[in-house]
Amino acid sequence: MKRFENRVVLITGGGTGIGKATATAFVSEGAKVIITGRRQNVLEETTKKLGEQTCFIVGDVSKKGEAKRIIDETIEKFGQLDVLVNGAGTGAMGPLSETSDEVIESTFQTNVFGPLALIREAAPYLIESKGNVINITSVMSKGVMAGSAMYAASKAALDHVTRCLAAEYGSSGVRVNAVAPGLTATDITAELRKDEQMLGIFVAQTPMGRLGEPIDIAKTVLLLAGDEAGWVTGQVVQAGGGLML
Ligand SMILES: NC(=O)c1ccc[n+]([C@@H]2O[C@H](COP(=O)([O-])OP(=O)(O)OC[C@H]3O[C@@H](n4cnc5c(N)ncnc54)[C@H](OP(=O)(O)O)[C@@H]3O)[C@@H](O)[C@H]2O)c1
Repeated sequence: MKRFENRVVLITGGGTGIGKATATAFVSEGAKVIITGRRQNVLEETTKKLGEQTCFIVGDVSKKGEAKRIIDETIEKFGQLDVLVNGAGTGAMGPLSETSDEVIESTFQTNVFGPLALIREAAPYLIESKGNVINITSVMSKGVMAGSAMYAASKAALDHVTRCLAAEYGSSGVRVNAVAPGLTATDITAELRKDEQMLGIFVAQTPMGRLGEPIDIAKTVLLLAGDEAGWVTGQVVQAGGGLML
């Protein structure tokens, strides 16, 4: 029997990058997987590649009410929920003087408010399945870098959400952990990776000496989501080759 057979996994941001690699890894371990995001064409394409164990829900996690709808539709489709991966995230960087109120608001809505609402709506089903939550945060939440205040603060908030909700749901048998990627080759870092000098600085500061690949992060998510980590909760596990330890 495969490791995640008979398990249902919901992955926000599952159409691309880290979420897509995580969906692929869960499917290969036998899980039924629902991916979400705002772009229907992207979700359709990824679902087609992943096969019949996968379906998608179009939804914007930054909007009020979407969390309830996404969880309700997940339960309608599969009748249970075992793992929630909060992977959807947004990551504009730049000087605060050039950062508008709208961008600050939408960053926190996507990276913090959305995951909070999703965990709240998912909790009754996770309690039933003794399931778990994995929040995708970032090593930036510990590092200090000019131009990162808004993004890093949103991910630091999600780190602390992870610890506080581990305390809140532990007695119900639900674990809450986070995986904090280092610099990883996905769409969100495409602009940064085009800047060879910047890329060189990040790689030089990564003890293991390379960029992360989405599969590196996916493997860590499965490690924490599986029964082998059944006594692990409230942890933020860095998957970044040692960047910003
Ligand atoms: N790549 C890195 O170096 C790195 C490092 C640290 C942390 N992370 C985190 O890893 C997570 C995944 O990012 P990635 O690197 O895989 O980049 P990505 O490919 O750009 O993935 C981001 C995903 O989030 C979805 N998304 C964004 N805003 C959304 C919203 N409001 N509602 C629903 N879905 C939304 C996007 O889909 P739509 O646009 O279709 O909605 C997309 O699938 C993010 O939380 C990111 O902050 C990445």
